[in-house]
Amino acid sequence: MEKIILRDIPDLDNIDVYVANGGYSSLKKVIAEMTPDQVIDEVKKSGLRGRGGACFSTGMKWSFMPKGNEKPKFLCCNGDESEPGSFKDREIFEKNPHQFIEGALIAAYAMGIGAVYTYIRGEYWKWFNIMEKSVADAYKKGFIGKNLFGSNFSVEMYNHMGAGAYICGEETSLMNSLEGKRGYPRVKPPFPAVSGMWGNPTTINNIETLANVPAIINKGGEWFSKIGDPRQPGTLLFGVSGDVNKPGVYELPTGIPLMELINDHCGGVKDGKEIKMVIPGGSSMPPLTREECLIAKMDNESLKEVGSMIGTAGVIVMAEGTDVVDVIRRVTKFYYHESCGQCTPCREGCGWMLKVLNRIMDGSGRKSDLDLLISVAENIEGNTICALGDAAAWPVKHAVRKFRKDFEAKIKDDTPLPVLNKVHGLRESDEYDTITFQSEQEVVEGLIGTVQELSQNEDVKRFSS
Ligand SMILES: Cc1cc2nc3c(=O)[nH]c(=O)nc-3n(C[C@H](O)[C@H](O)[C@H](O)COP(=O)(O)O)c2cc1C
Ligand code: SF4
Repeated sequence: MEKIILRDIPDLDNIDVYVANGGYSSLKKVIAEMTPDQVIDEVKKSGLRGRGGACFSTGMKWSFMPKGNEKPKFLCCNGDESEPGSFKDREIFEKNPHQFIEGALIAAYAMGIGAVYTYIRGEYWKWFNIMEKSVADAYKKGFIGKNLFGSNFSVEMYNHMGAGAYICGEETSLMNSLEGKRGYPRVKPPFPAVSGMWGNPTTINNIETLANVPAIINKGGEWFSKIGDPRQPGTLLFGVSGDVNKPGVYELPTGIPLMELINDHCGGVKDGKEIKMVIPGGSSMPPLTREECLIAKMDNESLKEVGSMIGTAGVIVMAEGTDVVDVIRRVTKFYYHESCGQCTPCREGCGWMLKVLNRIMDGSGRKSDLDLLISVAENIEGNTICALGDAAAWPVKHAVRKFRKDFEAKIKDDTPLPVLNKVHGLRESDEYDTITFQSEQEVVEGLIGTVQELSQNEDVKRFSS
């Protein structure tokens, strides 16, 4: 199949090679021949859905931007790429940066945007430097700047490095970070199209999403809509890692069977082993069992049928022999560490899940811990400002449900139940510290004492009467 983004052309990162292969002709075409609304319609027709995880229709998102020019408008290109298992956007920065830049400029034209920011993951120095050079080269050739191709359309483009926080990939947190503030997600509504960067209309798109746009303009929305699964057409950049013989980034049509991806493209599972578990779309997606892998197809709607989602298409393959409980504990540790702490369910719940998983790993877990984990996860899910809470809850909840036997195997029935006075600490190395907590009886006695004390307090008496 012909690739759309990771095209087999040597040195495509070089602007001259890119131009010689039709590069920037789609930008020229939209400016010379199409109105902004026609561009949005073409993207709608293509069926392109966002590649940043939520799979939202790109054309629809662009149409939410207000039409007038009363306020400045912004485009933020999301290259934060911090989800464990995701490493496909850096491949675009490295192999075909100008196709992404061209896509972003077309998006800016379609929405009447005057400034484009590319937010790049804090650890991606190499790719940041590539982007700095690529943007400078595009300015020199006259593809970015004032009055492009003699039109009245002008646009500026800037690269911005994050400081290495996963939460800054969340779109509203990203905008706060770009504005120089702490990377706290904002409450929605208002949505970014109404009030985004500095209170102005803003669209946020993933790098891969935008890199598809020049081909859609060049070959037409209808052509794109016929590639792969019609419910999420196009190709995906599958970043495959873990126990496969040939890990890497593979551009393939959506809807490809998971086993075809693993066996035909990634050289099969290491040492000829069976699959134990696969996380199909970055670590926040519900994991798949071996049986589910056999029937799973790699697009969002098909994956929903087996209880997962495509996310960022970061596929983590784990062979038999993998300690599922330890994997989920490690994943939970990541989300606990990255929680920004604004909402109680996420801030506390991630820590609680980690404590429970730590004690199960240590052999001091108890049978009721499994239902406790599901209960904590379900109380995080849907109750937070941003989706990091869901991202932390889903792997735990679904792994306990699907791999319950693996969890139970670590729980000794003779574990003393009521008193748990040692809980493992939560931070940094795997050699975590030990923190001593009160016994449950002491906690209950303490609480009763506090309530009794409070009931005697004069202010409390006055307030409650
Ligand atoms: C915690 C969290 C982290 C995220 N990280 C990224 C990221 O690194 N890159 C990305 O494109 N989207 C990320 N997203 C999704 C963005 O909020 C947003 O939906 C996306 O950038 C929109 O682009 P798209 O419509 O082109 O997919 C993240 C979401 C959450 C909740
Ligand atoms: S869900 Fe977590 S990361 Fe998101 S705003 Fe709330 S505390 Fe912060």
